[in-house]
Amino acid sequence: MKSLLIVLLVFSFLSLSFMTLKDLKDADELYERINALSYKEFARAPGWGERSRATIPHQEGQEIYVDIYINDVILEALEANEPLEEWPVGSLLVKDTYVNGEYTSVGANEKRKDGWVIMQWNADGVAEFAGKPKVCWNCHKIGDDMVRAFRFPQYQDSK
Ligand code: HEC
Repeated sequence: MKSLLIVLLVFSFLSLSFMTLKDLKDADELYERINALSYKEFARAPGWGERSRATIPHQEGQEIYVDIYINDVILEALEANEPLEEWPVGSLLVKDTYVNGEYTSVGANEKRKDGWVIMQWNADGVAEFAGKPKVCWNCHKIGDDMVRAFRFPQYQDSK
């Protein structure tokens, strides 16, 4: 019983060290919101018209497939077809991930007044990464204003 308590304590400290309670609350709120918005009915990201093989590095023996959805804000920015240097505030992108055919996680990035957040939940909707996690951030910051699946309108032809 005592050792279980210690394990639980260590575990909660470890999880708090990379996600603050505020991040967790924010993650729960965003998860509820993307579902309330029925994100699976959003438009598909350009170049990702259907479930497709992810380009992110795969582990051996893993097949990763993704569905990538974009909200109206980003869709309108793409349709306006004007050169952009950043995506508008309110842009929301959601990605469902399937590993070897099994639904494993959902991720989202959202552009807010104070910048991007990038989050990930497991298949049960439990937050795994929230706020501005370094592991996600470092890879996404090389995209066009944090977006990796497609480029700004002026580069759409040179994808
Ligand atoms: C190794 C680099 C890398 C890391 C690390 C990474 N991503 Fe991505 N992400 C990509 C790429 C590349 C795409 C475009 C889809 C593809 O090619 O598989 C993408 C696409 C996405 C998308 C769809 C919108 C977009 O920006 O294109 C979301 C949402 C997303 N990632 C969330 C996350 C989250 C959350 C994490 C951290 C848990 C994360 N990513 C970590 C490379 C990465």
